[in-house]
Amino acid sequence: MADKKRVLSCIQPTGDMHFGNYFGAVKNWVNLQKEYTCMYGVVDYHAMTMPYNPKKLKENTWELIYNLLAVGIEPENLFIQSLVPEHAELGWILNNFASFGRVENMTQFKDKSQQSSAGKEGFISVGLFDYPVLQAADILIYRADYVPVGEDQKQHLELTKEIANRFNNQVGKEYFVLPEMLRTVTPKIMSTADPMKKMSKSAGEKHNISLFAEEARIRKQIGSAVTDSGAVPEGELSVGIQNLFTLLKAADKMAAHDSLLQTYQEGNLKYSELKATVADTLVELSADFKQKKEALVQDKKSIKNQLKQSSHEIRLRAQQTIKEVKDLCGLSNVRF
Ligand code: TYM
Repeated sequence: MADKKRVLSCIQPTGDMHFGNYFGAVKNWVNLQKEYTCMYGVVDYHAMTMPYNPKKLKENTWELIYNLLAVGIEPENLFIQSLVPEHAELGWILNNFASFGRVENMTQFKDKSQQSSAGKEGFISVGLFDYPVLQAADILIYRADYVPVGEDQKQHLELTKEIANRFNNQVGKEYFVLPEMLRTVTPKIMSTADPMKKMSKSAGEKHNISLFAEEARIRKQIGSAVTDSGAVPEGELSVGIQNLFTLLKAADKMAAHDSLLQTYQEGNLKYSELKATVADTLVELSADFKQKKEALVQDKKSIKNQLKQSSHEIRLRAQQTIKEVKDLCGLSNVRF
């Protein structure tokens, strides 16, 4: 039987998982597990690139693991990035195949460096700059065929392919697989507080709705969602309203979506009715996940052991790649 195709994706432990993460990427991760060999990383090395608190980083890492298990990720497919240090080793090697000019142009670096320099010390780390190369290493180290991510990762995926191509050309072998991006039907969820911005953890609390938030908070955030954002061409939805419809679509509530859209087109839609439907939908989904998480946190010890084991198994694949890459690059490769 032919080998299954490989899927790799990752998420940063920088706070609670939000509906943007879930609808834009993680929901797909769950479904892909049925068909492919999947590896999903909680990327704690990445979370060091912005000012952070070490104690909080460890807490966030485990919190995110429970979140991911609660939404349906299988423990054997999950790993913690820093337990597979070969990611950092490949990252260093790939630095030498990445164009400075291209890395300098990454929009996420520009956005985040602005946030970082607006902080207390006005400090921007080299890690933040180099982040996309480590991301390329995360993907290429497993020779992944598919990478399920939200729209905001498109540029990083393109850079990954360029790095893989340059590496392959230089070593004279089609060693790295050029990975393909996989999108959900809703690859970009916007902030309900400012629908011109994407929903994100780094933009601040009001710009994301946690998947595990209290019911009252979810209702409040949807209830105060911005709906009017300047002039909208005749017949089109404002970005805020569009985003609320997108949330219904993302949650597979197509009957409610279509009937509310029809009411809108007839000119009879009450925004309060749309908001109440969206809030009910998110609350229902969240309640289910919270219940699953509650059961999981009863058994922290066995989850820790599972993650240790799965990270170890996944590491063996990464070690194999590093060995081959070192040979191809002319680096020494002896066993001590
Ligand atoms: P992160 O942690 O910001 O987000 C995790 C995943 O959620 C998606 N996402 C969204 N999708 C739709 N709408 C949104 N508002 C939204 N916000 C986030 C992201 O696209 C992502 O798929 N650089 C990555 C982490 C990473 C990675 C990797 C991803 C590191 N190495 C290797 C894939 C492969 C990041 O910061 O994602």
